[in-house]
Amino acid sequence: MLNKKAQCFIDSSITMLPPFIQQRQKRVAQVMQHASGDKRFKILEAHMKRYQYRADALIEVLHKAQGLFGYLDHDLLLFIAYRLKVPTSRVYGVATFYHFFTLKPQGRHTCVICLGTACYVKGANRILAAVQTLTKLRAGETTPDQQISLLTARCLGACSLAPAVVYDGTVAPFQTSETAVEQLKGWLQHGS
Ligand code: FES
Repeated sequence: MLNKKAQCFIDSSITMLPPFIQQRQKRVAQVMQHASGDKRFKILEAHMKRYQYRADALIEVLHKAQGLFGYLDHDLLLFIAYRLKVPTSRVYGVATFYHFFTLKPQGRHTCVICLGTACYVKGANRILAAVQTLTKLRAGETTPDQQISLLTARCLGACSLAPAVVYDGTVAPFQTSETAVEQLKGWLQHGS
């Protein structure tokens, strides 16, 4: 327990912090309070603990967080930054650099078109164009009814299957504009 003098000193130190840091601290406190009542945060916390809250486990932690929450919103990134003791800017940097992370809610279905070199030379750009025409989406967008999200990736690590597209988490090999459009038409028609 701190004595009165020490507590006074800490309180006055906080109020002396620049306003934007005070604001951040306040937001972190709110997120932590919210996190205490959400089971998913508990699972995420256990995951971070397994990595001993190491900063170099950031990608694994983000991956787990996206699996639990579906996407990475600001509060979630703030929580991770706070727990791993890394700057929020770094967490944002990693989350926005990798294509498999998303900062927005995803649709019910996701279509990830690989635009890595092997897929690109085999016509991935034509697949993307056909899907964009059909869905009226640009890469990174979701249909207004939240049915389909269209994403692109740099390389899925399945170059021998190029051009590859991931439909709802399953890699489909040797895709064409026709096969992709057929798949998405099915989603659009059935809504499931
Ligand atoms: S470039 Fe598409 S899977 Fe590697």
